[in-house]
Amino acid sequence: MNFTASKNRYNEMVYRRCGSSGIKLPAISLGLWHNFGDVDDFNIAREILLNAFDVGVTHFDLANNYGPSPGSAEINFGKVINKELSSYRDEIIISTKAGYYMWPGPYGEWGSKKYLIASLDQSLKRMGLEYVDIFYSHRPDPDTPFEETMAALDHIVRQGKALYIGLSNYDPQQTAEAVELLESLGSRCLIHQPKYSMMVREPESGLMDVLEQKGIGCIPFSPLAQGLLTNKYLQGIPKNSRAEKSHGFLQKTAITPELVQKLVELDNIAQKRGQSLAQMSLSWVLRDPRITSALIGASSVSQLKNSLACLSNLEFSDVELRDIDALMPV
Ligand SMILES: NC(=O)c1ccc[n+]([C@@H]2O[C@H](COP(=O)([O-])OP(=O)(O)OC[C@H]3O[C@@H](n4cnc5c(N)ncnc54)[C@H](OP(=O)(O)O)[C@@H]3O)[C@@H](O)[C@H]2O)c1
Repeated sequence: MNFTASKNRYNEMVYRRCGSSGIKLPAISLGLWHNFGDVDDFNIAREILLNAFDVGVTHFDLANNYGPSPGSAEINFGKVINKELSSYRDEIIISTKAGYYMWPGPYGEWGSKKYLIASLDQSLKRMGLEYVDIFYSHRPDPDTPFEETMAALDHIVRQGKALYIGLSNYDPQQTAEAVELLESLGSRCLIHQPKYSMMVREPESGLMDVLEQKGIGCIPFSPLAQGLLTNKYLQGIPKNSRAEKSHGFLQKTAITPELVQKLVELDNIAQKRGQSLAQMSLSWVLRDPRITSALIGASSVSQLKNSLACLSNLEFSDVELRDIDALMPV
């Protein structure tokens, strides 16, 4: 299939520097955790990817286990990147990760050198790529010395299989320790991927300070709390929503009457700002200059477009911030 990207694709997007590195990322990046597996409609997945690139979304985030089935998001992404987007490879930042369960036995998850190297090799094969731009340790391993995990990441970069190193789900202390180990090897951590949204505020207690001190970028995942921080669940649980799908990670039990009441109040604040609740939730994450990019998911092109429109209003008044703080976190 032929695809020619719009000549205007860089006109509207905002790019932010990733910590003190040479890399800039789009303020909105697209993740393939849900909606890109072999249970999903490939044509919709393909449309989302092409539409995103066409408006300046230059960063796509994957992991070995994204699907379901695990690995299928990388296979599907590989089909698009190697066909329609192949001539644009140098305009795109692709990340993948290893850390969660991928194959049976003692070498199929966590943080050993054996697992990380084998997993990245598998990911590259699935995507049909020679290298990824960022390779993440997806989670800290309590049983493998950080020295081993960091040495594996350093080795991967020296091999040229990844250009940059990322950490995800490391707490402030673990991050500081890992970053120092990387520095002692002559490597640096480019970026950290924590869970952060109006509903999940932990990174404000220490992590962001560590990242700022060390010049590391921050790309929060699930900034819409998997869809909760949108108008999606205000009137019940719609068909084909993440909460309704059997393979979705969002549990129906998360949608309590108390939460819905708060979401209605947040939606009122968003409407006064002239935004959808999704847009306000993304603008809120991006209000902090230490945030490089908000890493969203989308199950349709219209959701993607709705979310991207947050970029026209990133400012908050003190009153708005105070009112949001009073409602969140629940
Ligand atoms: N490092 C980690 O451990 C980790 C963990 C989780 C995620 N991630 C990364 O973060 C990415 C994003 O995570 P996420 O998918 O949970 O992000 P999210 O942006 O919080 O949630 C995405 C979901 O919200 C709904 N949505 C999106 N835009 C909308 C809009 N404008 N209006 C209404 N609803 C909207 C859709 O739900 P429906 O599908 O119901 O339509 C969509 O699937 C992942 O793909 C992955 O790359 C990383």
